[in-house]
Amino acid sequence: MSEIKFYKHEQIPMEMHKVKIVQQLHLLPADERLAKMKEAGFNTFQLHNGDIFMDMLTDSGVNAMSDNMQAAMMRADDAYAGSETFYRMQEKLEEIFGMKYCLPAHQGRACENILATRFVTPGKCVIMNYHFTTAKAHITRLGGHVEELVKDEGLISKSDLPFKGNIDLKKVEECIKKETPENIAFMRIESGTNLIGGQPISYENMKEVTDLAKKHGIVTVLDASLLQDNLYFIKVREESMKDKSIREITRMIADLFDIIYFSARKFGFARGGAILVRDEEMFHSMEDLVPMFEGFLTYGGMSVKEMEAMTVGFDESMEMDVISQGPQFIDYCVKALDEYGVPVITPGGGLGAHLDAMEICKHIPQEEYPAGALVCALYLCGGIRGMERGTLSEEREPDGSERFASMELVRLAFPRRVFTLSQTEYVIDRVKWLYDHRDLIGGLRFTHEPKTLRFFTGKLEATSDWPERLVKAYKEEFGEEG
Ligand SMILES: Cc1ncc(COP(=O)(O)O)c(C=O)c1O
Repeated sequence: MSEIKFYKHEQIPMEMHKVKIVQQLHLLPADERLAKMKEAGFNTFQLHNGDIFMDMLTDSGVNAMSDNMQAAMMRADDAYAGSETFYRMQEKLEEIFGMKYCLPAHQGRACENILATRFVTPGKCVIMNYHFTTAKAHITRLGGHVEELVKDEGLISKSDLPFKGNIDLKKVEECIKKETPENIAFMRIESGTNLIGGQPISYENMKEVTDLAKKHGIVTVLDASLLQDNLYFIKVREESMKDKSIREITRMIADLFDIIYFSARKFGFARGGAILVRDEEMFHSMEDLVPMFEGFLTYGGMSVKEMEAMTVGFDESMEMDVISQGPQFIDYCVKALDEYGVPVITPGGGLGAHLDAMEICKHIPQEEYPAGALVCALYLCGGIRGMERGTLSEEREPDGSERFASMELVRLAFPRRVFTLSQTEYVIDRVKWLYDHRDLIGGLRFTHEPKTLRFFTGKLEATSDWPERLVKAYKEEFGEEG
């Protein structure tokens, strides 16, 4: 029952849960938001959560837990070694994915660190449909490089293609030929491709590309962090899969890969991560890295309470009523913005709605970070915190020049089971206002620029007094307190 039909009302997404515990929200006046933005160095990662009305930075670690997840936390078995909690979690993962071996880690990037440490040496190549920031950072840190071989149409912002995360098989064949199979550390397929708008990859495409990798003896890795959204899209958009259950689809996907890893901050609605391995020898080749970087092999840096919660969360991720919530709310938001003429990534994907800053802020040159500027403007105009996913999120080339991102996006994440439809309407309303006043938005420049992952801790300033002018116009529309 993932879509309840209405009698005398247009179809709207429906919350398939009820609220049992709440967190009070506060909307700071616009002038105070401007002061907070300056303090944060025009970097939304540096804002305090208490100064935010709608936190749409990410879905990572901020999804709402269910009553059953919280109840499960009470039976967590605290032990440094051999915790029963770990074995329950491992058993559940084996039941769902059919992989026997499990290496726990404190979050997704910790899994990426372990995988890169095991497989990447200087000069090695990792094939991907598209990179994720932390996955790429670990590979390049070890002297490897990434080849992003998503189909060209995946990067076209306006489209009705159902699977924009699909990899281009021809490009993969050419890459294997150029690099030679021995030089390819592994092939990483990212479900719910984050940086191109949470766009899914089809089962058929995963099958074709993993078959190709197998033919050449290349290790295949699935990043399943955003798998739940991808499962929903396979079920509703891939004709040959529509009669399969979510569990069946999951197992069919899992069977294609040698290794699966995930951030349980996303997949599992809790906080943690794990690497699942099919082959015993491969498992042993990574085993010692867990105690070295994470913690003992039966907790890997995670709290046992979180492990109990995510074990229930994995089961919930196999339910259509649960996994449909994010994509349906995102679709509602994307359609409303698209109809108004706001450039957004279409079709709506998982994870969040993605504003196309390259279009909205055409007047801002890429070296002044249009997506970075737009995300700050949205905080000023409504207390909404999104995330820049464009040039700011890239790292500079070795010669110090900017590496311009192929897409300049502002992501408005929809953490699962968190926001209501009226809150979604508020966001739509403020984005429409900002779009109509987009000429007031100006550029940004760094005042403090870290070398790695600069988007987390970097500080910037406005290139003119545009934030003051924008706030003035906003107050004229919505009043001092708006
Ligand atoms: C696709 C994908 N892979 C890996 C990660 C890293 O996970 P974590 O934030 O738990 O380190 C993320 C986080 O957003 C992600 O979206």
